[in-house]
Amino acid sequence: GAMAEERALAMVTCTAPVNIAVIKYWGKRDNDLILPINSSLSVTLHQDQLKTTTTAAASRDFAEDRLWLNGEEADVGHPRLQACLREVRRLARKRRGGSAEDVAPLNLSYKIHIATENNFPTAAGLASSAAGYACLVSALARLYGVEGELSEVARRGSGSACRSMLGGFVQWQRGERPDGRDSLAQQVAPETHWPELRVLVLVVSGEKKQVGSTAGMQTSVDTSPLLKHRAEAVVPERLALMMRHIRERDFEGFGQLTMKDSNQFHATCLDTFPPIFYLNDLSRQIIALAHRFNAHHGRTKVAYTFDAGPNAVIFTLADTVAEFVEVVRRSFPPATNGDQFVRGLPVDSASLPEELLTAVVTEPVPGAVRYILHTKPGPGPQLLDDPSQHLLGADGLPRRCT
Ligand code: DP6
Repeated sequence: GAMAEERALAMVTCTAPVNIAVIKYWGKRDNDLILPINSSLSVTLHQDQLKTTTTAAASRDFAEDRLWLNGEEADVGHPRLQACLREVRRLARKRRGGSAEDVAPLNLSYKIHIATENNFPTAAGLASSAAGYACLVSALARLYGVEGELSEVARRGSGSACRSMLGGFVQWQRGERPDGRDSLAQQVAPETHWPELRVLVLVVSGEKKQVGSTAGMQTSVDTSPLLKHRAEAVVPERLALMMRHIRERDFEGFGQLTMKDSNQFHATCLDTFPPIFYLNDLSRQIIALAHRFNAHHGRTKVAYTFDAGPNAVIFTLADTVAEFVEVVRRSFPPATNGDQFVRGLPVDSASLPEELLTAVVTEPVPGAVRYILHTKPGPGPQLLDDPSQHLLGADGLPRRCT
């Protein structure tokens, strides 16, 4: 009958955001459960500019679990992906009163197909595992009808992914329990809380191979006394302070602490043995530029933060965007390759006063910044209702190939 037909194939599509930490997560106390040595705090970025879309389908006709990343088939056996899948199925089973044989609403023994893609170029080196796992878990949870606390599941994919399960300003509480049940993400304030806050992602050219987060933080935990001190003594205090700055929309406090925490994270990388370098000459030029800009204005107008990659993320307020974008354009004159230098939210044009140019734009480095992405805080994962947006067709195979 119609019911049986419907159950033969179920399909769900979700989107999920990228997040950028202002109090950084670096170091695990449990590698398998992905439990951090310190709490962290991030801003969820708007999905109009940066998002992952994932379609999850289950069918009695699928012969095996399959996965496509940006149109290319990928290994579905990845332990972290399997952990997420196992946890969602466990929650689904629990919800149905412990029976794995239950047929409604979806048979848990059906194989699944997953297709996922980003609306930003992977080559841009923007962190995509957080959005990716948040999206996977959101889609799987919907598929199996699981509701409630899901950050715990997303955390099993990638630590920072648990923070992408919520919009706005999000804290990941380290938790105390060895089983990780209290290592969860919590919203500190919604994305509407600070309407003037803006984010500029400076996507840099010439990305180099670097140490991945997982391996890097493991070496840091094993060798860096500074990281131990940071987790025990520095972060607890900073976290409380950062929450206050956010509550009060105090950009001076928020910006200063964001820069200091980024710098301390990179200091723990240098304190790691052998040392890890994520900041390069260009990062240091951007850091110096931000400090010259702030010094010229006599207050904190822009704040930088860097993760385990070369792109710079700048926090600022709406009234500063046009001027700072022009400063970046003058400092890193775009190579004339026809690419749009400013992308995302619109940016007004600004002409810079001579004294600002002289004080802030010192030695231009042509082509070093590929483009600027202008975005703002945004909401958490979304369910797409329109079936035409599914990445998989009715046959369970990718609709588009790249
Ligand atoms: C520097 O979440 O990518 O971006 O848990 O091993 O998957 P795993 O690491 P990941 O680490 C992110 C580190 C960071 C800081 C942060 O986002 O808090």
